[in-house]
Amino acid sequence: MSRRTRISGLRQAAPIVLPSLLLCDFGNLEREVERLELAGVNGLHLDVMDGNFVPNFTYGMPIVAALRKLTDLTLDVHLMIDDPGRYVEDFYEAGADLITIHIESTNQTLEALQRIRNTGAAAGLAINPQTPLSRIQGCIELCDLVLVMSVEAGFGGQSFDEGAISRIRQVNEMTGPECLIEVDGGINQNTIGACADAGAKLFVVGSAIFGKQDYTAAITELVSCAVTS
Ligand code: DX5
Ligand code: ZN
Repeated sequence: MSRRTRISGLRQAAPIVLPSLLLCDFGNLEREVERLELAGVNGLHLDVMDGNFVPNFTYGMPIVAALRKLTDLTLDVHLMIDDPGRYVEDFYEAGADLITIHIESTNQTLEALQRIRNTGAAAGLAINPQTPLSRIQGCIELCDLVLVMSVEAGFGGQSFDEGAISRIRQVNEMTGPECLIEVDGGINQNTIGACADAGAKLFVVGSAIFGKQDYTAAITELVSCAVTS
């Protein structure tokens, strides 16, 4: 599927809840993916951390490749690593459909975004809560997605930063209709609605899904909170 087709498909299907696998049961990855597919999700959000850009480690290409074998769902890879441009081809080869880098992680943002697009994947740019939005202004043209972080990148289970709501609104004004807005961190039944109102289309959710027994009920409730806001 082409980059443009994938992005416009996601826009049509919005609001989309993307489970962040950070808190899933990695000993039962196949079962976890099955449960999420049964819950009707459109994609999976994969948090890659290097212990350097953020003070936490997760996983890299092998887990993305393992998931690619298990599912046809869109794989949304969030790279929280230094100098991410070095690895975008590897993540694409592993099966990533959407690759997001952080504006704070490289001084070669435009080159990295272009490298992502050259692979055929959609290109995303993430921004942490403390970083001025003006930093992404010159990069929007190469973005298929802007990821507004509503917690400082690094860990699941943090509380939602309310400042994200006006930042989503501002990013919505900075970007055209071709660019999707995603929000990540502390998204739950109480915070998702305001983010949807502000213009976010994709909602990354970790603890508010994996902390529950019934994934289908949790996801259905999240989507309805985003729709009825
Ligand atoms: C944080 C990650 C998030 C996180 C979301 O750096 O990017 O994807 O896992 O988890 P919750 O929903 O628990 O904040
Ligand atoms: Zn993430």
